[in-house]
Amino acid sequence: MPEGSIAPSPSIAPTYARAPIAFERGEGCFLISTDGQRYLDFGSGIAVNALGHSHPVLVEALQDQAAKLWHTSNLYEIPHQRDLAEKLTANTFADLVFFANSGAEALEGCIKAARRFHHLQGNPQKYRIIGANSAFHGRTLATISAGNNAKHLEGFGPRVEGFDHVAFNNLNELRAAITAETAAVLVEPIQGEGGIAPADLSYLTALRETCDEFGILLIYDEVQCGVGRTGRLFAHQWANGTADPDLMAVAKGIGGGFPLGCFMGTAAAMSGISAGMHGTTYGGNPLASRVGCAVMDVMMQPGFMERVYAASNRLWDGMGAVVEANPHVYQMRRGAGLMQGVMVAEPYTCGEIVARLRDDHHILTVPAGQNVIRLLPPLIVSDAEIDAALDAFRAVGAAMKARV
Ligand SMILES: Cc1ncc(COP(=O)(O)O)c(C=O)c1O
Repeated sequence: MPEGSIAPSPSIAPTYARAPIAFERGEGCFLISTDGQRYLDFGSGIAVNALGHSHPVLVEALQDQAAKLWHTSNLYEIPHQRDLAEKLTANTFADLVFFANSGAEALEGCIKAARRFHHLQGNPQKYRIIGANSAFHGRTLATISAGNNAKHLEGFGPRVEGFDHVAFNNLNELRAAITAETAAVLVEPIQGEGGIAPADLSYLTALRETCDEFGILLIYDEVQCGVGRTGRLFAHQWANGTADPDLMAVAKGIGGGFPLGCFMGTAAAMSGISAGMHGTTYGGNPLASRVGCAVMDVMMQPGFMERVYAASNRLWDGMGAVVEANPHVYQMRRGAGLMQGVMVAEPYTCGEIVARLRDDHHILTVPAGQNVIRLLPPLIVSDAEIDAALDAFRAVGAAMKARV
């Protein structure tokens, strides 16, 4: 092992391919390792640290709440949970929110809400959900069935029944898959783990129309692409109200690093999530809700989303030039907002380039499917930080050229 690197723990289940680094501090877009090295974080804990590390507003909210009250359970009213729900419904299509702790739980909630909606309508035979190839919705039994990745399903027994899959962003395939048993359509407006693939806005609008035509629900998974990442609070909002869902799963950025997730929906779509029909001990507890409110307050400040948009254009344009100058390593770039991906040209692998960016240039990025490197910087990223990341991509491209 190189000097300063940290070996995996023999006491932790070996589910993750961890880099041999640990961090002890974070400042804005930087992480500082236990051996004092500074790394520019263009992964944000996989799209979680939307406001970077140690944001003063979040630190203040968490510390203040920690000194007052952490947890009471949902047996009682939780004022910050109410505030957060109102902030979310005021800024989205949704009428009702249910708070959970993670993305997978948020998706489970959407699946349950969709099935029970049809049950209450007198159509219990409508329980199937059509998802997309290359999707990712989490690692619970239902969400691995929804995601349909063979590697994630292997050895985990019979699948949770009721999930069908079609090509992403293909309306003909989707329409052909609808049957009398279909309850809902589930898509990520921008596929994340699958390799940063944005759906066309016209596809999302057509999905809305198709779901209305067939009397089925539209569910978005905005766990990765939501909460400001594209320069709107939620990615589908770029369709300006023509592609609103009935149900939506949210997590990651909404807690800014504190574990928090939720699902939300119209009053009709949430009608099955009634008293006693769903629950979780921690969901929306005082600590999590207080931090979630602070995240929303920062993001809703005038100019915040405009800055995300400007930053994303700088990254997009700059990366376009880097890709063009280094086609032997970078095949193309795609994405939206500050959720961008660079597809690595074979024979190079995205894992190899991610390691080079990290070890040689101290830039942290995240590998994804289809040999894509994910760029998910904190939404507060500065122009200078974007330029530093672009320089690193350029330098890795040049180094690879020298080696070929
Ligand atoms: C689009 C999407 N949905 C769901 C999940 C699952 O979220 P969690 O890991 O919080 O359960 C993820 C996690 O990466 C995701 O990217």
